Amino acid sequence: MPYVVTQSCCADASCVLACPVNCIHPAPGEPGFAETEMLYVDPATCVDCGACATACPADAIKPHTALTPAEQPFLALNAEYYDAFPHPDRTPVAQVPPQRRLRRSRPLRFAVVGSGPAGMYAADELLKHPEVSVDVLDRLPTPYGLVRAGVAPDHQRTKQVARLFEAIERERGFGYLLGVEVGRDLTHDELACHYDGVVYAVGAAHDRRLGIEGEELVGSLSATDLVGWYNGHPDRQDLRVPLDHERAVVVGAGNVALDVARILTADPDALARTDIAALPWAELGRSRVREVVVLGRRGPEDAAFTLPELVGLAAIDDLDVRVDTGGVPVTGTSAKARLLREIAARPPRPGRRRLVLRFRTTPTRIVGADAVAGVEVTRDGVREVIECGLVLRAIGYHGAPVPGLPYDAETGTVPNDRGRVRPGVYVVGWAKRGPTGFIGTNKTCAQETVERVLDDADAELLPAPTRDRDDLATLLEERAVVPIDAEGWRAIDEEERRRGRARGRPRLKIVDPAELRRVAREAVAPSRYSAARRRRQKRG
Ligand SMILES: Cc1cc2nc3c(=O)[nH]c(=O)nc-3n(C[C@H](O)[C@H](O)[C@H](O)COP(=O)(O)OP(=O)(O)OC[C@H]3O[C@@H](n4cnc5c(N)ncnc54)[C@H](O)[C@@H]3O)c2cc1C
Ligand SMILES: NC(=O)c1ccc[n+]([C@@H]2O[C@H](COP(=O)([O-])OP(=O)(O)OC[C@H]3O[C@@H](n4cnc5c(N)ncnc54)[C@H](OP(=O)(O)O)[C@@H]3O)[C@@H](O)[C@H]2O)c1
Ligand code: SF4
Ligand code: SF4
Repeated sequence: MPYVVTQSCCADASCVLACPVNCIHPAPGEPGFAETEMLYVDPATCVDCGACATACPADAIKPHTALTPAEQPFLALNAEYYDAFPHPDRTPVAQVPPQRRLRRSRPLRFAVVGSGPAGMYAADELLKHPEVSVDVLDRLPTPYGLVRAGVAPDHQRTKQVARLFEAIERERGFGYLLGVEVGRDLTHDELACHYDGVVYAVGAAHDRRLGIEGEELVGSLSATDLVGWYNGHPDRQDLRVPLDHERAVVVGAGNVALDVARILTADPDALARTDIAALPWAELGRSRVREVVVLGRRGPEDAAFTLPELVGLAAIDDLDVRVDTGGVPVTGTSAKARLLREIAARPPRPGRRRLVLRFRTTPTRIVGADAVAGVEVTRDGVREVIECGLVLRAIGYHGAPVPGLPYDAETGTVPNDRGRVRPGVYVVGWAKRGPTGFIGTNKTCAQETVERVLDDADAELLPAPTRDRDDLATLLEERAVVPIDAEGWRAIDEEERRRGRARGRPRLKIVDPAELRRVAREAVAPSRYSAARRRRQKRG
């Protein structure tokens, strides 16, 4: 009974070290690990111990007898990897690199700016050193970046990676300063003088523009905004999403395009069992959208979405998924090409909502007087207008500059050498590499960055802090910024889960920053108020 890796794998490789017979690949350090869409269990050598399933933060590994019908294709997918890449060497991967120790032991204090996967993995790597303490800052009152505000609500198993982050929060030396934005509430220099080093993990929150006529029309939106809207991002709750036309068009053929297309065509009753934000859920329940057309400018073989996501999409029972290549056969022998051919050959399933993967189609203009009425596209030199009331560009994310840090406007990243910007300043995640990769990709990325931090600590290159944590608290207090700490976040988390339980949902997100702060504040022990009072008295 082999275990099988399924759709929610985010490639963080926690399972690899757990496996006693080294049958999960590609493993970190092996060719293909950096690019892999998921990991695979070798069914020929799996001894069915279940250790990997316990280690997996995203509940992605199951015994094959527990696979749902929708997950069945993953059985063959795991096995086929080993047809292509046999791994005859079964030496256990216990070749864990020896734990690096700092050359001179002294207390070190770091700030990590951004609490998405990259920030949390970086904090975890730093806290492996007993000398180190870490404060994780985030501009939002809640942590976890795109795991909370990006990963689609119908991917609840993926969101469970948050359990791993909760374990990191419990590590000795970990602290949160949530609701503090670097660049708004304090400058880089004001932050940096309190720490031995600052690691920026600020992601890439902006959208990219198509640069075509009509992009400013009402109903032409970025997927970035829509994703934040349905995930309860406090900044995106005022978004106006016209859902009164039967068709919507999504430009781009990546995983984000599939996410938004799935949510727009999802059964509202199924969404009701997720952590989707309340207002968007209600609006989607009233939606008249029956068809979403996803536009890929290249051929199906070149689609940016990944195979596990396509497998998941193809298995949605109440959705009529179509492949439209304009009559050109889908070529290629990859598993993705084979599945696209299989979907293209399916008979239509009228009566269901429809999701069309339309390839080799480039948008040239968004048409409409005040609001979107359609998208003009070309394929093989032929122009046509696809009528619709909503156009979403899902053509990738882009990082914004951080005041006080260098910036490469082309890539939207902070220029760096394997994570080092300069001694004392580091970068990790999408802000370092650009907006690609899975949640787990940020773990390897964080390991690389933290290596640079440790190199600089060993070389005595880190600027010593000139102020302490109390000074930082005072500075923020003077600016009327009240950070939410780990205890405050736990109170928010518990309250959201409590509200969710009452409605049969994993959580009901609180989206109003003032309410988030109130819930956190009410949980703060009175002793902390006295500490703040003492600080005020100290200042006179
Ligand atoms: C829509 C979407 C869905 C995805 N779904 C999946 C999935 O299902 N599975 C998967 O494996 N991967 C998924 N990914 C990819 C994954 O989310 C990313 O690889 C990962 O989140 C990048 O991590 P990060 O920490 O670099 O950035 P982010 O997750 O964006 O975190 C950045 C954090 O920095 C904070 N911040 C920004 N600026 C400041 C500032 N000035 N001061 C303080 N804080 C600041 C932000 O509030 C945010 O919390 C998805 C990506 C997107 C866009
Ligand atoms: N479930 C998951 O695991 C999951 C979910 C969401 C996101 N993610 C990850 O997050 C990262 C970001 O995803 P993403 O979907 O934003 O980006 P992406 O994977 O880079 O896809 C962007 C898409 O937009 C297209 N595009 C770019 N510019 C365009 C233009 N001017 N006109 C038309 N099309 C254009 C690209 O086409 P070309 O290929 O032709 O350039 C591509 O199809 C990816 O690594 C993704 O895998 C993972
Ligand atoms: S069940 Fe055991 S042997 Fe099989 S992949 Fe998981 S850890 Fe390895
Ligand atoms: S999410 Fe991580 S632990 Fe789970 S199967 Fe994928 S690589 Fe392994």
